Amino acid sequence: MKKFAVIGNPISHSLSPQIHQQFAAEFGIDICYERIKASEDDFKQVVLNFFANGGVGLNITVPFKHMAYDLCTKTSKISKKAGAVNVLFCKDNLIYGDNTDGAGLVYDVTKNLNFSIKDKDVLIIGAGGAVAGILYPILQQKPNVITLINRTYQKAITLRDRFNENDNIKVANFKDTNKATYNLIINATSTGLKNIVLPLDKKIIGKNCLCYDLSYKDSKFLQWAKENNAKKIANGKGMLIEQAALSFIIWHNKKPSTDGILVETFA
Ligand code: ATR
Repeated sequence: MKKFAVIGNPISHSLSPQIHQQFAAEFGIDICYERIKASEDDFKQVVLNFFANGGVGLNITVPFKHMAYDLCTKTSKISKKAGAVNVLFCKDNLIYGDNTDGAGLVYDVTKNLNFSIKDKDVLIIGAGGAVAGILYPILQQKPNVITLINRTYQKAITLRDRFNENDNIKVANFKDTNKATYNLIINATSTGLKNIVLPLDKKIIGKNCLCYDLSYKDSKFLQWAKENNAKKIANGKGMLIEQAALSFIIWHNKKPSTDGILVETFA
């Protein structure tokens, strides 16, 4: 039986084992997919032991995506842009890394939600690791402009300077957001699962606006968006499933169906 796992800390909440078992069942593939809790001190050794003992593929989650990037022999262009990986596999004793987070988000938004990002005005709230992972794939969709706002302004500036190619990333303060409206607003802060209300002005919600939260439960942000008549709201469940599907393709070279995955878990 082929061995897979997801490594993180905390890890007990991870839905990756259920998702990958459901994908594998579609093709009649027998897999073992575990959750592994690591610490900063033993992370590298845990990864090396996993592959030395015949493991085929790993998903990497918070807080190890950057450390995992550093231990790869080869990484994809998207991973290099993000400086982080969420998928690892081993071939000829070399560790390869990729990042499917941003592509998973883009697939969910453009295909599942049928929302084209091209030429749109996008607002991203946050400037942490999650934003570093999604910025390049969103830029590839050729939005009109991406505005970044973050509680710590300087972190948004740093991200802008790292990713800006055609002057299409701007930085704003929370208090300035009422000066523009947006077609797509993405909450990429870690407030999603907490009871925190972001200081946003309802005027930023443009016509036909999609408000998306990367966290996979309905958040205060989505509640705010609904109350203020956003055309569409979505949590990150679709992104979670699509990034997993892209990992599955990397490992098994088969594209799983993502319809109805985790229906019971999220019911
Ligand atoms: P992740 O990997 O989930 O992005 P992270 O790198 O720790 O985690 O980043 C968390 C993001 O959520 C940051 O943008 C953080 O803002 P700061 O850079 O100012 O810390 C944002 N965040 C966390 N708590 C917040 C809060 N109460 N209000 C606004 N933003 C918050």
